[in-house]
Amino acid sequence: MDATREPHFTGTGPGSQTHDGCSVELYRRARYAGEIDHLRSHFLAGTSVLDLGCGTGLLAHRLLDFGCTVTGVDNSAEMLAHVSDRVRRIHADIERLDLGERFDVVLLPSGLINHADATVRRAFIAAAARHVAPHGQLILQCQDAHWLRTAALGPLSRSSELSIDVTALARATVDGIEQVRMTLRYVMGDDAWTHAFALVPLDEAEIAALLRDHGFDAPVALDDARRWFAAKPRR
Ligand SMILES: C[S@@+](CC[C@H](N)C(=O)[O-])C[C@H]1O[C@@H](n2cnc3c(N)ncnc32)[C@H](O)[C@@H]1O
Repeated sequence: MDATREPHFTGTGPGSQTHDGCSVELYRRARYAGEIDHLRSHFLAGTSVLDLGCGTGLLAHRLLDFGCTVTGVDNSAEMLAHVSDRVRRIHADIERLDLGERFDVVLLPSGLINHADATVRRAFIAAAARHVAPHGQLILQCQDAHWLRTAALGPLSRSSELSIDVTALARATVDGIEQVRMTLRYVMGDDAWTHAFALVPLDEAEIAALLRDHGFDAPVALDDARRWFAAKPRR
């Protein structure tokens, strides 16, 4: 098969893998790493949050600590099984989600917006638009486009608990769109997993255009690295 037409996601290793190649067991063992602590002013006590792609609830559980009411959506029942029952858990595809209700914050984390398929990227943002309150906001996390364009094979990060290496890498243009295919290898103790994925690097202008097309105002960066953005529905 043409390498650029292979599935967008695969994964290997102990335990089950999600549709997007994530290891359930790896996420179950992972610890919250402070990802949303700098966004705390957006998650005041009582804020209703829709966490899209909540996995095992690493972010959802932190949102509970903040005093938010949290609805978590994932299409992996195995992931959702590890989410606290204090989170309302919805087993569904984000693309087709239609809960008929609106939330103060819709959270689209983990670079889901960088999905290699433009139809899916648009469906994710359309789902966010369907569920955000008129006074609310979408908060999303994108992948670092510069890093996707320049990352090399080799060690990516090391801690006493987890090491991550880039073990395969290919960059291509598919139907005129830049695409990066990468395999990461995670080692925790005696266990190892791989996660292979295809993503598109998105510049801020592309993110802004995608949001504008779905009725959002221009996004505002929430961090110095410019990976987290907030966008309000256009009035
Ligand atoms: C990289 S994990 C991140 C999990 C969690 N947000 C965190 O930060 O720990 C991505 C999660 O999104 C879920 N996911 C990916 N695409 C999805 C889709 N189209 N619909 C529902 N869930 C999806 C996966 O099953 C997985 O649990």
